[in-house]
Amino acid sequence: MILRVEGIGPLKGGLKVPGDKSISHRSLISASIAEGYSEISGLSSGQDVLSTLSCLRQLGIGIAIDGNNCRVEGRGLKGFIEPDDVLDAGNSGTTLRMLPGLLSGQSFLTTMTGDSSLRKRPMGRIIEPLSLMGAKIWARDGNRLAPMSIKGTQLSPMEYELPVASAQVKSAIIYAGLMAEGVTEIIEPSQSRDHTERQLEFLGADISIDVVGGKRHIKVVGGSTFTGGLFEVPADISSAAFFMVAATLVPGSKVVLEDVGLNETRTGILEVLKSMGAFIVTDNVRVVGKEEIGRITVNSSPLLPVTVRGETIPKVIDEIPILAVAATQATGVTGIRNASELRVKESDRIAALARELTKMGAVIEELPDGMIIRGPSKLHGAKVNSHGDHRIAMALAVAALVAEGVTEISDAECVSISYPSFAQDLASLGGTA
Ligand code: S3P
Repeated sequence: MILRVEGIGPLKGGLKVPGDKSISHRSLISASIAEGYSEISGLSSGQDVLSTLSCLRQLGIGIAIDGNNCRVEGRGLKGFIEPDDVLDAGNSGTTLRMLPGLLSGQSFLTTMTGDSSLRKRPMGRIIEPLSLMGAKIWARDGNRLAPMSIKGTQLSPMEYELPVASAQVKSAIIYAGLMAEGVTEIIEPSQSRDHTERQLEFLGADISIDVVGGKRHIKVVGGSTFTGGLFEVPADISSAAFFMVAATLVPGSKVVLEDVGLNETRTGILEVLKSMGAFIVTDNVRVVGKEEIGRITVNSSPLLPVTVRGETIPKVIDEIPILAVAATQATGVTGIRNASELRVKESDRIAALARELTKMGAVIEELPDGMIIRGPSKLHGAKVNSHGDHRIAMALAVAALVAEGVTEISDAECVSISYPSFAQDLASLGGTA
């Protein structure tokens, strides 16, 4: 599919973007291992979350869907049943990395795979720690790539320091820790998103967090059961970020984003945009479950350059594509460093951004662990490609709003991975031809 975008004026209006993708995956997974029924509202309708949902159904979990609400029949910690086919995670790294944590502790063999992009993404980062707990996992290319087969067993607890800040890896070990005999301790090098910890605490699982010498230590007690409940999924700040940048860049815009998740491990985009001079106000903040949510109002404003590196990177990792677009319009040199993880996302996001934004007139220097962006550039419409990556497609659509002429984004169907109604929501704010 080709997405054609031409900016013609300011964006105005209000929007509630779809449910948070990370919290949606976790709500489905946690509800499926809870005792009894759970109700989830505001679930993401993106393809990635549907991949988790269909894998869980194949594992014997009853899930009834009604729009963005669903009812999940939890079967307890070890209640999955042996699937009669391979589980396909599609494009979803979160599905393929988190489910093996639970599958390692069941009593049967499961094989998981994904699409051609996911089959290239590193899986050693979950296979190694889960194997230390006793999991039996076989994977392609020297135990590094999917497809992979997981033979469930009785897991042992462990103490493990994560080599990279990854919420997917952390969550896989937390879920495995629930299945192990004893206390599993995970130490994070720097904090990644903590939705799994918050959700399990909210549900009453035995999980605790201490900060020792500046590092978070997460302790999970194996066998701690919990009952299902009500899950309310906030709107996804990673999706809202496209409209924050669009409203900032297009003169005369004002956009209000409702019920956006404001978990502090995800608000790096607000901090970075504000430090660039963006005019962003957050109000109506409240707590739902254990997650903060609120309203974000964005007015257009000029931008200054910024350097983003170190501990900020995990807090803004999924927003770097749209941040790169913002940086093309900032007055000066923006640096993004310590972000080599971008090379193993849905695409090599450093290469994809440098290549596609350059076609539109941006000045970007690719670095092994990030990029240097020299702004402001006068962008022009071009024929660009999404590299099959939803966040690259949507970032290019926002760049198109400030470009002269029409931009055609090919392979744009991938936006449905996280945001099926992106094009309609963008159109609803006006500003596009
Ligand atoms: C996610 C964690 C991050 C993020 C991904 C979603 C999650 O990946 O980039 O889009 O839901 O836990 P890593 O765990 O690889 O850092």
